[in-house]
Amino acid sequence: MPANGKIRVGVNGYGVIGKRVADAVAKQSDMTLAGVADIVTDWRIQVAVKRGYTLYGASDEGTRAMEQAGLPVAGTLSHLLKGVDVIVDCTPKRIGARNAESYRRAGVKFIMQGGEKHEVTGHSFVAEASYDSARGRDATRVVSCNTTSIVRTLTALKRNGLLGRARGTLLRRATDPWESDKGGIMNTLVPEPHIPSHQGPDAQSVDPSLDVVTMAVKVPETIAHLHYWTVQLARRADAEEIIAAFRASSRVAPIRMADGLPALNSVKELMADLGRPRENLYEVAIWTDMLTVHGDEAFYAYMVDNQAIVIPETIDAIRALMDAASANESIARTNAALGIDPRLWTAKAERVAEPVAE
Ligand SMILES: NC(=O)c1ccc[n+]([C@@H]2O[C@H](COP(=O)([O-])OP(=O)(O)OC[C@H]3O[C@@H](n4cnc5c(N)ncnc54)[C@H](O)[C@@H]3O)[C@@H](O)[C@H]2O)c1
Repeated sequence: MPANGKIRVGVNGYGVIGKRVADAVAKQSDMTLAGVADIVTDWRIQVAVKRGYTLYGASDEGTRAMEQAGLPVAGTLSHLLKGVDVIVDCTPKRIGARNAESYRRAGVKFIMQGGEKHEVTGHSFVAEASYDSARGRDATRVVSCNTTSIVRTLTALKRNGLLGRARGTLLRRATDPWESDKGGIMNTLVPEPHIPSHQGPDAQSVDPSLDVVTMAVKVPETIAHLHYWTVQLARRADAEEIIAAFRASSRVAPIRMADGLPALNSVKELMADLGRPRENLYEVAIWTDMLTVHGDEAFYAYMVDNQAIVIPETIDAIRALMDAASANESIARTNAALGIDPRLWTAKAERVAEPVAE
């Protein structure tokens, strides 16, 4: 680490996840964004330059193309690696696994994203579940958006002694908005051919004790994922107690249909109105006025902003690898820097619940 004690972070792959990670790193008072690397030369990377981020070419060819395009390239990925403590790999699926060896050779700690397999780092990360076992490690993998939401919510129930077994159906967005001109489904629903879908076993890579089975279907929209869950409770509890367990996590946000939030689009609009960058919903947004208990089973649904949910986890993973803070300290710092504030949500719910003056 440099003399100022800040963790030097590089981002390789400045796409949907990489650009959000770069912005989030730049907001942390204990981190410095050393630079971003990519292979493209168009508007996507030009915005990074406009934001003042130092640009590196992720391949020799990419570096040459950037130079030819007149972009201010500071060097190649190997130059970037010389000046960082942690590199966050946000390249497309399977490219990260190929990069792991060069990170190891450079002696740099690294973080993979959910497109890579658990085996690439031997550790899978969700802040509220596996921060401690990541402390001081050389590498970890921040699990996918869906898996992050599953582990966050089931961990909240587990911590309160409520979790028996969990069964979920995931409605998955077809593609990301910026590339919806290139592909995505229309006028159909596409079931994933295997049960369980991979997210359940993936959640067990973070917490092997979870009794969880998932099924998934691709749906023709790009806003976010929607999950439906049935959880067999480990003990009798009413809806209020289950909601209280979710509220105890700062990254599960209670929302209500009664507050004018009946669907994915209205929650996204709320993020825009709150001034969140890129309308990011970092939390799992769970409908509390829909949550129902029958006997020993709880039923609920929530929204997952696939583009944003893994960003706070990635920031916490950086601190965990550097052993720079406890889990609670890191989560609190990340939340403060990104504007994740449970009061924002609960205050609203409570205000709406007040009786109207006669
Ligand atoms: N998009 C999501 O909703 C989402 C959610 C959670 C996790 N993830 C995971 O995050 C990772 C990145 O996904 P994404 O959606 O941001 O992808 P993306 O396609 O939006 O961005 C990838 C970026 O990497 C660049 N790139 C391609 N090859 C490269 C190389 N060899 N070296 C450096 N850069 C290269 C691309 O130009 C692009 O800018 C994947 O593991 C993915 O599974 C994605």
